[in-house]
Amino acid sequence: MRCIDELSAGELKGKRVLIRSDFNVPLGADGEVGDVFRLRRGWETIKYLSERGARVIIISHVGRDPEQSIEPVARALKRFGAVVYVPDITGAAAKGAVASMRDGEILLLENLRRDPREKKNDESFARELANLAEIYVSDAFAVSHREDASLVGVPKFLPSYAGLLMRDEISHLTEALKPPQPSIAIIGGAKFETKDPIIRLFLEKYSHVCVVGAIASDCLKGNGFPVGRSRVSEHMPAPDVCENPLLLAPVDVTVENSDKQVSVKKPQDVLPDDKIVDIGPDTVATLAPHIAKAKFITWNGPTGIFEEGFISNTSAIAVLIAKRIEKGGAHSVIGGGDTIAALQESGVPEEKLGFFSTGGGAMLEFLLKGTLPAIDALG
Ligand code: 3PG
Repeated sequence: MRCIDELSAGELKGKRVLIRSDFNVPLGADGEVGDVFRLRRGWETIKYLSERGARVIIISHVGRDPEQSIEPVARALKRFGAVVYVPDITGAAAKGAVASMRDGEILLLENLRRDPREKKNDESFARELANLAEIYVSDAFAVSHREDASLVGVPKFLPSYAGLLMRDEISHLTEALKPPQPSIAIIGGAKFETKDPIIRLFLEKYSHVCVVGAIASDCLKGNGFPVGRSRVSEHMPAPDVCENPLLLAPVDVTVENSDKQVSVKKPQDVLPDDKIVDIGPDTVATLAPHIAKAKFITWNGPTGIFEEGFISNTSAIAVLIAKRIEKGGAHSVIGGGDTIAALQESGVPEEKLGFFSTGGGAMLEFLLKGTLPAIDALG
């Protein structure tokens, strides 16, 4: 796999470069982009290309509704630089806009999923996209687990390179697969069955694996504790996971009863009317010494239901990680859309927390397989 910075400025100047970014960002009730994390991270490669005189054609999907326009993303991108939105993908309007581009100019074409051929990895669509440009750059790490035409089809027809974000994601997540010891992985989220493979893998690779979020209730239940009204998964963790001595389950939990009263309890004291909404402060305290000596920390999934305001323990862990990194000697990789959103509310600045992956599903799948279809497609 070659990275776009292997080409000289002279080789980029005046070239039409098609860049697949992942600007799939949530749109608010007003239809506008609220969180620009992915846009900011994806902008680095776009800026790099534009500053070297390339004619930059951005393609991305947004959402799963094929009617959704990408125009709000174009508006949000304007805070980073000048972007021209083209309400077309490979038709006459897109071809015309590309033909009249000047060096350094940046276009954003319409939501790729408006064309049903994108999800079908249709070769004719890949060819039409490729015909717009002379060079292809894959920078959409967060959607690299999908075999869509813009991701795995286009590289068959153009000289193809990884973008700067893609390169950084691969390098940090590859490190997370061979963590220096001691190390700790903190894994949250729901649906235990989807996290089971990564927890098992991390139990082999990390000194400790801490379960938080909804899957922590699954592990507590698996260990025979009452979990009241808590959300539990259909597939419960097997005893070899729950009872693994390297697995750290919460030693206390924050619960909310049906009168919305919140308290912190030991797992054995959870009542039938309680819903577990977060880990508790004693659990954070048990993690503190592991984080303080870890040389590598991987974190995916907030500790509690942060959308409902249960953020304090996620923030407390973020503070511990930031302190560990500040002292030097530790690397960390943090990912998952919810984790990033929760950490943005935590008050701990992103730059103090190591590497933030833009991937959610893609991050976990990369960690499981060591590669992804859109990465393989780059050769
Ligand atoms: C993501 O946000 O995880 C990626 O953009 C993939 O989106 P998708 O799940 O709709 O394919």
